[in-house]
Amino acid sequence: MRLWRGGRLATLADEHGWGLVDDGALLVDNGRLHWVGPAAALPAEAADAEVVDLQGALVTPGFVDCHTHLVYGGNRANEFEQRLLGASYADIAKAGGGIRATVAATRAAGEAELLASATQRARALMREGVTTLEVKSGYGLDADTEARMLRVARQLGALGVDVRTTYLAAHALPPEAASADDYIAAACAWLPALHAAGLVDAVDAFCEHIAFSPAQVARVFDAAQALGLPVKLHAEQLSDQGGAALAAGYRALSCDHLEYLSPAGVQAMAASGTVAVLLPGAFYALRESQLPPVAALREVGVPIALATDHNPGSSPTLSPLLMLNMACVLFRLTPEEAMRGLTVNGARALGLADRGRLVAGQRADFCIWDGGHPRELTACFGYNPLIARVYQGVQGEA
Ligand code: NIG
Ligand code: FE
Repeated sequence: MRLWRGGRLATLADEHGWGLVDDGALLVDNGRLHWVGPAAALPAEAADAEVVDLQGALVTPGFVDCHTHLVYGGNRANEFEQRLLGASYADIAKAGGGIRATVAATRAAGEAELLASATQRARALMREGVTTLEVKSGYGLDADTEARMLRVARQLGALGVDVRTTYLAAHALPPEAASADDYIAAACAWLPALHAAGLVDAVDAFCEHIAFSPAQVARVFDAAQALGLPVKLHAEQLSDQGGAALAAGYRALSCDHLEYLSPAGVQAMAASGTVAVLLPGAFYALRESQLPPVAALREVGVPIALATDHNPGSSPTLSPLLMLNMACVLFRLTPEEAMRGLTVNGARALGLADRGRLVAGQRADFCIWDGGHPRELTACFGYNPLIARVYQGVQGEA
């Protein structure tokens, strides 16, 4: 057993409150939290443990980045420039840029090249405390490249971060497709083999006027459901398509973006226990002015998660800490809501109940920070106070 002691813990153990424990201790056995509480009350078995002195540092659960597009070729800084000259994200997409530009670069990249660039990005997220990372496909849009992306995503797990993969073939229409309906049929047909190869943990789609209709998304969800795979949705990012209500009907794990979510969508998500994943990086980078309905989500108790949405177009950030701050400043989340968003509710958006809080039985994935109170992590931006990251009970340097 290993024992970390002498720090302030933000356990998030209960539904509400930080769950602060001063002069706290974490006893770890076999990659799991065996006991968590005040050092003064340590159980007898702690006597033989190897001790790490936290020296008064702050400990939080490891961050769960539950929405990323981390694997891709090329970059789209040219589109950043185009947007500054007046083009919108939707204009660029309609002109064949946007997601399709990244599809061309990803198809042209070999597996080793994709792995090398994604490794750099994953390391950057880990340096800010990420211990669980979701990665979507969706820049291949053909059977081979979708599979390549998912294989690369799985390989990132060797870095010391838990990777969950999401199949997002219904992200955009590839240039060679005869029609959106034909393409959706193909995307559904590729799924069983990828699932059989162990490459898919969940299925996602982009429901939008520049992407796929609710009826097309429903076909993808039916294919997922037939395999017992949970679904998620890029919903109501640029317009209200009724995607969230559709996804809720499939008991989706999460609906993500949600700036244009309607009151009916909020109700449907509440009824199905679907997590609202807010993505302040995309909101910021696209200079969106429509705010996600945070007060309405809060009122009916829809769990709110946060993620980087790292991708080369709408959210080229690798900073979960910046997302904490942006969620508070832009979306008016409380510091505690923001922190839950990147921990326990991020885990929930991936269907994971074994992480995101510092309580006995959970995975021993946690972060050690230079700071006194967890709200400090949300108030600062452009500053990384991580001292060390512990992944499955093994401490690495920040
Ligand atoms: O989550 N909205 C759709 N998908 C991504 C953006 C992908 C891209 O622009 O490459 C998102 O924002
Ligand atoms: Fe996304």
